[in-house]
Amino acid sequence: MTLSDAITARTSLRSYLRVPISAEQRLELGKTIDQSNQRAGLHIQLICDQPEPFASLTKSYGMLTGVTNYLVFAGPETDPDLDEKCGYYGERIILTATTMGLGTCWVGGTYDRDFCLRHLEPGERLVCVAAIGHVPAERGGRENLIHNAPHRSIKTAAELASGLSHAPAWFMAGIAAVQRAPSARNRQAYRFVKKRDNSVVAHLTEETPFGLVDLGIAKLHFELGAHGGAWTWGDGGVFHKAAEEKSCGAVIWRMSEGRREYLLARHNGGHWSFPKGHVESGESEADTAAREIREETGLTARVDTSFRQMVTYYPKSGVVKDVIFFLASPTGGTEHAQEEEIAQIGWFSFQEARSLVTFATDEEVLLAAESCLAQRAAET
Ligand SMILES: Cc1cc2nc3c(=O)[nH]c(=O)nc-3n(C[C@H](O)[C@H](O)[C@H](O)COP(=O)(O)O)c2cc1C
Repeated sequence: MTLSDAITARTSLRSYLRVPISAEQRLELGKTIDQSNQRAGLHIQLICDQPEPFASLTKSYGMLTGVTNYLVFAGPETDPDLDEKCGYYGERIILTATTMGLGTCWVGGTYDRDFCLRHLEPGERLVCVAAIGHVPAERGGRENLIHNAPHRSIKTAAELASGLSHAPAWFMAGIAAVQRAPSARNRQAYRFVKKRDNSVVAHLTEETPFGLVDLGIAKLHFELGAHGGAWTWGDGGVFHKAAEEKSCGAVIWRMSEGRREYLLARHNGGHWSFPKGHVESGESEADTAAREIREETGLTARVDTSFRQMVTYYPKSGVVKDVIFFLASPTGGTEHAQEEEIAQIGWFSFQEARSLVTFATDEEVLLAAESCLAQRAAET
């Protein structure tokens, strides 16, 4: 599940099982939290096995039960954009948790704020928290709905945006993602305006206690829905859509003396990765992968599109790049590295390949490929 899929899957959940978050899940969440803190200078923390802030509250709005883990959203009190950054980066963590199958709920009011202040360093301000944890498989129970607003009403695109006539598809997709954005008391008190130069301005339509947190959350949703771009902070912040690039490639594998081996290429830039390259006009994704394999390694290969993993990253400012990886197995040709781009190619065991690949995203693709192939082997 991608973060964009998580936008559709997420809903605020208020009833939790007292099942601990596993060490693996804590590690995974920790990575996203560390990244956010580093990028934005925040002090977001995951607090586990501590029910106190939610133990004795019986307010009518959004009573939470069974909460034992929560996220603390805090940062320097001198940062003028603290609320918005907590919303933007916090929602990235919430969506990551959703991809991991965990339930979440942003919480601004119904928790013991004084208790949570103990997690702050001097000079920091607590913005809000979020409940996080395992939820019953049946997630639609009454307790998960807001007491006095049982139906989650979604604002229309026209209520949330201006400039919809003649708007490009990416703007419409951005607004559709904003429609799904959580907000305090479901207010969504903001508006996204498309300008003639295709930039987008987001501003608040009324003053509410968590308005800037809501705005940060909505900005992230818009960016994910629009598929890449960058915002400036603040009420009236501007978004510029990133240019889109697409490459295709493959995790090439073979069996050698009873063990699975993977082909990696050391690019002239020094990094180890899989063969891949830009889609040329008229090509299907599989055509591009096969051509790039041939050009970069000299091998012909059967491309298996039933395995398809997409990696998205920003290669430079203002550009978002999708790379699609398939599985492939060699069918012929003569192995040789394409001089202009590739310094070296080689076959490696899974463990060797895992420690050799340079980018974390490639490691994830390799892990997915290995688990897919191992499962297939077990089934035959
Ligand atoms: C900043 C913020 C604070 C919130 N505070 C609470 C809260 O105190 N109690 C609660 O039950 N829900 C709280 N919510 C959850 C909203 O009620 C919920 O996001 C909204 O109703 C939309 O529903 P959904 O998240 O299921 O899409 C909060 C949400 C946000 C973004």
